Amino acid sequence: MNTADNVVEMRSISKGFNGVSVLKDVSFDVRKGEVHALAGGNGAGKSTLMKILQGVYQADAGEIVIGGKPATINSIQDAKAAGIGMVFQEFSLVPSLTVAQNIFLAAEPLGMGGFIDDRASVRRAKEVFAEMEVDVDPQAEVSRLGTAYWQLTEIAKALSQNAQVLIMDEPTASLARHESEALFELIDRLKQRGISIIYISHRMDEVYRLADRITILRDGARLLTEPLTAVTPEQIVEGIVGKKIEGQLAYRERDHVAHEGAPLLEVRGLNAGPRVRDVSFSLRPGEILGLAGLMGSGRTELARALFGIDRRESGEILIRGEKVNLNSPQQAIDAGVALIPEDRRAQGLVLDHSVRDNLLLPLLGQITRGPFLDSMKGKDLSSSLIKKFAVKVAHPNRPVRLLSGGNQQKVVIAKWLGTDPDILILDEPTAGVDIGTKSEILDMIRELASAGKAVIVISSEYPELLAVSDRVLVLKDGSVIRDIPRSDIADEEYLQLAVQGV
Ligand SMILES: Nc1ncnc2c1ncn2[C@@H]1O[C@H](COP(=O)(O)OP(=O)(O)OP(=O)(O)O)[C@@H](O)[C@H]1O
Ligand SMILES: [Mg+2]
Repeated sequence: MNTADNVVEMRSISKGFNGVSVLKDVSFDVRKGEVHALAGGNGAGKSTLMKILQGVYQADAGEIVIGGKPATINSIQDAKAAGIGMVFQEFSLVPSLTVAQNIFLAAEPLGMGGFIDDRASVRRAKEVFAEMEVDVDPQAEVSRLGTAYWQLTEIAKALSQNAQVLIMDEPTASLARHESEALFELIDRLKQRGISIIYISHRMDEVYRLADRITILRDGARLLTEPLTAVTPEQIVEGIVGKKIEGQLAYRERDHVAHEGAPLLEVRGLNAGPRVRDVSFSLRPGEILGLAGLMGSGRTELARALFGIDRRESGEILIRGEKVNLNSPQQAIDAGVALIPEDRRAQGLVLDHSVRDNLLLPLLGQITRGPFLDSMKGKDLSSSLIKKFAVKVAHPNRPVRLLSGGNQQKVVIAKWLGTDPDILILDEPTAGVDIGTKSEILDMIRELASAGKAVIVISSEYPELLAVSDRVLVLKDGSVIRDIPRSDIADEEYLQLAVQGV
């Protein structure tokens, strides 16, 4: 292959932070019109490599060649000028502006007298969306739109700046299933127009659906670059994790589930807002209950109501047979309930605080001595949690913000398990974690149940839901439409039909 076919080449890139080497001599190239998957475990260096291409960080060594010529990329502006656009994991839009205003924020078409010409922006935005073959109203205020539209706006923004290469870092993490499918179709169309896409994802099915080639990073070094057709799924998984993992997604019945006896949690006729309507179910110690449903079916809202975030309007919640009032998260924690939220960055972590402080936040009650914090005890507790969950961090006092996405997720989980809850609710627990960690988290969920805890798992990945759930509750429009024992669910398709209410 002639190197002139490469739109982008990164040659022997190395990068360290505070003396810690994060990328070691990594070479990576992208051809015109290809989808190149960038894979690797949490903290392997994927986002960092892309931030270098994007001008957010500068490499310590190595060079970047664009269109066959050496390029200096010292800023996001440089990257844009070189035709590189990024669809950020954390969106970079201004919520109070319209879609069109966001697209042309940095490069507004100027009208007479130098004012932003709103009409021209709207017209041009319409053209870009028409080329993308998607339906987005350029005049809608971004804050009123869902994440799928934010993403389309970001893509339109990059395309309007003539991006030839689009970097997508875990783009489906915040999308519903049908939205992901729409994104994949858009990627197919962009490819046909010669746009190249660098696609970072922990989901193997997406990599197989989209990618022409794959590069795997391990611990900051490049392990391989191959066409997808030249490697088996097993090789990819082993390459990412560094060892073989088997039977990750196989359901294993646990015999200690108490099939009789008193429920740990009972919910009767619960109403809380428009998306929790007359919900009733019970949960025994040792049981794992999966919540399935489409986006908007009320899964997250049910979790929030059980954790005292959303107000209960009517109905009853009983824990160990006693009626409880869960009007705040603190009351829920005191009653032995923990929620690991879906949106870890917004709800799960204080990003500027240290890993240790984040871990200890729900545990403050246990580590105070009179009015003082017992800092030794705090150190011990946080260190043991970091070890137990294999959180990759140079030192516990480093801000959580500096951790890779997946390691932030581990901190959220470790933090809540530290409170030793009896009832544990996990909302999309494996979002953003690598496949190795994913199987560890699923094992952990099974272990917690085996230890007698009651667990509720929300997941939009059916294989994952089926791997751990002993029962699946199907929600639709806020109501329970099915309550199915795992043994009655033949396969993924069965569940999919149940979710659609068929
Ligand atoms: N600004 C920074 N300062 C210090 N360390 C950093 C910084 N940015 C990243 N790191 C470290 O570099 C390593 C690689 O992080 P990176 O975010 O690139 O991983 P990743 O492959 O994207 O992982 P994930 O799949 O979890 O998103 C991590 O150990 C991370 O803590
Ligand atoms: Mg990352």
